[in-house]
Amino acid sequence: MTFEEAKAKLAKYNQEQLLKYYDQLSDEGKADLIAQIEQTDFSVLTAKTFENEDNKITPIKALTVAEIEKEAEEDKKVGLEYIRQGKVAILLLAGGMGTRLGSDNPKGMYNIGETKELSIFECQFQNIMKVVNEAGAYPYFFIMTSPKNDAKTRAYLKEKNYFGYDANKIKFFIQSMAPIVDMNGKVLLEDKGQIALSPNGNGGWFSSLANAGLLPIVEETGIEYFNIYAVDNVLQSIADPIFVGATVRRGYPCGAKVIKKAYPEEGLGVMCYLNNQPAVVEYYELSDELRYAKGEDGEYLYYYGVILNYLFGVKELMTILDADFPMHKAFKKCAYINENDEIVKQTEPNAYKFETLATDMVKLMNNCLPFEVTREKEFAPVKNLTGKDSVDSARELLKLNGREI
Ligand code: UTP
Repeated sequence: MTFEEAKAKLAKYNQEQLLKYYDQLSDEGKADLIAQIEQTDFSVLTAKTFENEDNKITPIKALTVAEIEKEAEEDKKVGLEYIRQGKVAILLLAGGMGTRLGSDNPKGMYNIGETKELSIFECQFQNIMKVVNEAGAYPYFFIMTSPKNDAKTRAYLKEKNYFGYDANKIKFFIQSMAPIVDMNGKVLLEDKGQIALSPNGNGGWFSSLANAGLLPIVEETGIEYFNIYAVDNVLQSIADPIFVGATVRRGYPCGAKVIKKAYPEEGLGVMCYLNNQPAVVEYYELSDELRYAKGEDGEYLYYYGVILNYLFGVKELMTILDADFPMHKAFKKCAYINENDEIVKQTEPNAYKFETLATDMVKLMNNCLPFEVTREKEFAPVKNLTGKDSVDSARELLKLNGREI
């Protein structure tokens, strides 16, 4: 791309400010900035964002813990058989920046141990190994990273010998980035020659996996379901055979692990019907009217929150490979160059990041089983350093579950 072409591309999106320092850059810096402009997908700035005003939202019932208990034995048998036959792959969403933890390392490397080193990754590997040992098989294990954390994630896991997991079954792939804008919709510069970019959300995991050339593994080895999960829950139950069996035996193309929200404002996406389709509405997109709505029994109607642990059927995933996902705007912290040419570090959110969300896939899957799990056993999120959903609370929950940390 030439300078003139870059300028024209920016003009189309009203973002010429990104060339403000062009003349001050070295030849290498100039070429690099032009390459960034060429590679950046600015169309996210004008993409359709999620609006739920026109949608009909109604409550959904989950398969409750008590109901699951009744058929747990049969479900587990089917689930373990599916895993043994390689029909279930696991997929870790680890492309996020984890800005709230304030560490420059990938979130999974964060040391959650108290008396010994115990990274979030290690905790999760320990959880998976329990299933591996029970099934006697290693599922294919896909790990999504971003350009910002890929090298460190790979190096760390290799150095740790993948915590005993079969390295031949581990496949990494990288997601794409999206530009970050200020409150006026202008893309920020992180440095004079560096556009501010952040990973474009976890919604693109399947298309990124396909773009990385990994679909042949799926097709050739007969993977039927992906169990996708977030990096930031140290109690995450991965390839849970009962969850797999319950979803398969009841014929669902999709399953979502849900917990009862602790309080209506809790920051969890809510499982519900959206225009009569099982779907997830993000907590910040649910109206107050619905958030506090109660049924005749006095219970909140929208109290099943998702914990980012889903099963997605491959057959259905293939049909939505090219689907357009709505864009969500998340208000986050981003360092930038201000009008006085100084780099400003932020302590408070100041910018919007564009993200597609894996939760939006749920409604595209035609049907989904909300599968209730016990919060204290499976949900210890690590979002912040202290307080709610923090390193501190996750440590307590690990100990409560008898884990040595
Ligand atoms: P979060 O929504 O908590 O985002 O990610 P984050 O970027 O990790 O953290 P903050 O908000 O900046 O503090 C939920 C899960 O989705 C993954 C994360 O790695 C985490 O497992 N994720 C998020 C991606 O894989 N890619 C993304 O672009 C965003």
